[in-house]
Amino acid sequence: MVESVDIPTVMSGPVLEIVDLEYVIKDRRLFDGLNMTIGAGESVAVIGPSGSGKSTLLSCVLGLAKPDTGTVLVDGADVMSLRRQALARHRSRSIGMIFQFGELLPELSPIDNVALAALLSRADRATAYSRAATLLDDLGVPRVETTDRLSGGERQRTAVARALINSPSLLLADEPTGALDSKTRDQVAEQLFALPGTRRCGLLVVTHDLTVAARADRVLELRDGVLKQADIAGVGGR
Ligand SMILES: Nc1ncnc2c1ncn2[C@@H]1O[C@H](COP(=O)(O)OP(=O)(O)O)[C@@H](O)[C@H]1O
Ligand SMILES: [Mg+2]
Repeated sequence: MVESVDIPTVMSGPVLEIVDLEYVIKDRRLFDGLNMTIGAGESVAVIGPSGSGKSTLLSCVLGLAKPDTGTVLVDGADVMSLRRQALARHRSRSIGMIFQFGELLPELSPIDNVALAALLSRADRATAYSRAATLLDDLGVPRVETTDRLSGGERQRTAVARALINSPSLLLADEPTGALDSKTRDQVAEQLFALPGTRRCGLLVVTHDLTVAARADRVLELRDGVLKQADIAGVGGR
């Protein structure tokens, strides 16, 4: 029997729902019926060997890769059925993306890099810059003239700020600590995995680093085209 409980906040659907995703690339069955659901405030790590399709999975969530069958719902919207402009708008409102090497514009300052993402989503200038300043202060990024003066960890924190500026419901990260030394990796990973709790977003991190993956609420392994619960007992991530 299910007991009724008082739920203090409004129930909302998952921020990411992947159903029966199948994708054949060059005669290889890369995805053979993938399923995954992430709720607001929840973190999921996907591990898997190089070439298993982790980055392609994120491309499918962004609507950049077109799998053969299956459904990808971000914030309830089917990304594969959206036309180009609607997809771009939905992506910039609902998804924040963090890449392995930050992918910042090196000649711009950290605050310009972060504010730009808001300006592209049509925020007004004052709002974009004040939100960018707050995020960078929260994440401990110093005010420098150009991002190429930042350390690797500071660059990744700038990338995190940029991913957060439009208050996305889903954060995606592809090997976010792959270019960092282990101490910096731990600091960035700690900040990253705290975000679902503080900002109520869902977080999907793909990584081959088990100590990073172990910080997630759930760890899944991508292998032979399917996702399974990973067994990473004994890896000290926290
Ligand atoms: N657009 C594409 N065209 C052809 N092959 C691709 C394409 N995207 C990915 N692949 C191939 O799919 C496989 C999975 O790649 P990827 O998603 O980058 O794996 P991972 O991130 O797990 O290392 C690789 O063999 C890659 O070469
Ligand atoms: Mg990859």
